[in-house]
Amino acid sequence: MSAGNPVEIDLYVWSLDVDESERLRLARLLSHDETARAERLVFERDRHRFIVARGRLREILARVTKREPEALRFSYAAHGKPSLEGCAEKFNLTHSQSTAALGITRAHEIGVDVECVRPLKEDIAGRFFSPAEVAALRALPADLQTEAFFRCWTRKEAVVKAIGDGLSHPLDSFDVSLASDEVAAVQRIDGDSPDRWRLATFKPASGYTGAIACRTGGREIKITMKSLPQLPWPD
Ligand SMILES: CC(C)(COP(=O)(O)OP(=O)(O)OC[C@H]1O[C@@H](n2cnc3c(N)ncnc32)[C@H](O)[C@@H]1OP(=O)(O)O)[C@@H](O)C(=O)NCCC(=O)NCCS
Repeated sequence: MSAGNPVEIDLYVWSLDVDESERLRLARLLSHDETARAERLVFERDRHRFIVARGRLREILARVTKREPEALRFSYAAHGKPSLEGCAEKFNLTHSQSTAALGITRAHEIGVDVECVRPLKEDIAGRFFSPAEVAALRALPADLQTEAFFRCWTRKEAVVKAIGDGLSHPLDSFDVSLASDEVAAVQRIDGDSPDRWRLATFKPASGYTGAIACRTGGREIKITMKSLPQLPWPD
């Protein structure tokens, strides 16, 4: 089923490592609770990256909703998923090391995840993936498995972030495709129909992989890569 116009998703990607003057400018956009969260982070690099992630999130959402970045108010669902008070737009932010991404839709729940592709020391797939995903992963040639692991992990995390439960949602309660020659798709999901979901994989930066999940009810998705707001701030 894919009736209706595609669900439009705007995708923004940015680096969290910026010069000091840019970071200080972004820090001024944060609310008191965001500044307090940044201050609780032990490592300076994490503090700086959190400020740049949240500052840019505010700038982008302000442009989309035609508000001032400092005036935006977030509320948080039971498992911590933020939403914008008084706005129809749905968004989801992700950050991994120096890279952040943000997906925005008009009205559909969305989840986004980015990971730095790196060698794995433990059998994380065996602990968290469904039996079908573990079998599909292990059937691949060894040199393709790391990439496929992160393709699968980001798709699964994007699904649980779209649902809003995060990692408290059982990761073995649904299956996603993971091979590079398969269409990105939810193949099974307990208590729901896989046809209602759309998945996509994207490459945010060299060495990273990302995924977007959206419960569109069956409509296709159309992803548009957007550029960051330019300074000076547009009227
Ligand atoms: C959400 C979660 C999956 C994020 O995993 P991660 O790979 O470390 O982080 P990502 O960079 O992909 O995403 C983090 C961003 O997702 C958003 N987010 C937070 N909780 C979320 C949730 N439950 N669902 C969707 N998005 C969420 C936030 O914007 C967050 O960034 P910020 O806090 O810096 O603004 C993980 O932290 C989790 O499972 N949290 C839920 C824990 C929980 O159940 N807590 C209950 C008490 S609040």
